[in-house]
Amino acid sequence: MFVDRFGRKHTALRISITERCNLRCRYCMPEEGVDLSPRSDLLTFEEIERLARLFVCGGVDKIRLTGGEPLVRKHVEDLVEMLGRLPGLDTLALTTNGMLLPRKLPRLRAAGLDAINISLDTLVPEKFETITRRGGLENVLQAIEMAMAYGYDPVKVNCVVMRGVNDDELLDFVEWTRHVPIAVRFIEYMPFQGNGWSETGFFSYADMLERMGLFYPDLQRLEDDPNATARTWRVPGHRGTIGFIASMSEKFCGSCNRLRLTADGSLKVCLFGQAEVSLRDMLRGGASDRELDEAIRNAVLRKQAAHAGMLQLVDQENRPMILIGG
Ligand code: 5AD
Ligand code: SF4
Repeated sequence: MFVDRFGRKHTALRISITERCNLRCRYCMPEEGVDLSPRSDLLTFEEIERLARLFVCGGVDKIRLTGGEPLVRKHVEDLVEMLGRLPGLDTLALTTNGMLLPRKLPRLRAAGLDAINISLDTLVPEKFETITRRGGLENVLQAIEMAMAYGYDPVKVNCVVMRGVNDDELLDFVEWTRHVPIAVRFIEYMPFQGNGWSETGFFSYADMLERMGLFYPDLQRLEDDPNATARTWRVPGHRGTIGFIASMSEKFCGSCNRLRLTADGSLKVCLFGQAEVSLRDMLRGGASDRELDEAIRNAVLRKQAAHAGMLQLVDQENRPMILIGG
């Protein structure tokens, strides 16, 4: 098991498989874009598989593929198939913006993909264009429908809430859960390098709950897994649920069980930490499985108890989100 100094057992790994994206969400991608790593710097599928196997041997039972946009990586279905075969892995999940999902879902499902999160911050087409600096709301809605039709249950819909941008749509998202069995998750806007975060654009979990409570006074809290990032609620009678990921206002570092592998092969033990270990360099330098395993263990032992806090993070050096993996 990958256990840190605070007794946290790391059983979830998020693997970013590309730095590219077919959207340009303002909260994720700096306006000027990012310098992409040369292709040869990215892990190959074989390298990803080898590392994933080591993590799974060390007790990781859930892997999530992220990006960038993971579905823009060529032959992603093959990778899903390779990882899906790892003995000991219970859940193979995907976080996607949905744009390419309708095209790829049949093969992903057949390859063994277990769970899907789709990012969607607005239900208004023009606003979708403003937020993503592209377009394609229709594709995303179609992706959500199709994922449900393929039996993903629940399909999770991730919505980053930004004051003055989409906070006026909170109730529309809740209303969506009345007849549709999705799990909408409202995510607090987090500061990353170059993502235009400001305190005035921040909209807290408490504020979201307060606003929703006015319209849905009988909102019910549901029980969550101990390692869950979201606090889940339901409007009685609604088929779907709503959840809140309060990573800023009520950080859940104490129960964090997540590790991250960037597309260029660096292990990050915290989304907000600068500390990185290049497993790629070790691997390409001929390291044995044992040496890699030890490097992972040591990095986990250096994991901090918690992130510094929202206002401190603003000035902290970190990769932009697009280069970490959502
Ligand atoms: N704040 C909150 N969530 C973010 N994501 C990306 N950038 C941010 C941010 N600044 C999340 C989005 C998306 C996933 C890929 O990463 O929710 O669903
Ligand atoms: Fe792309 Fe997702 Fe980042 Fe938007 S949030 S730019 S869809 S990776």
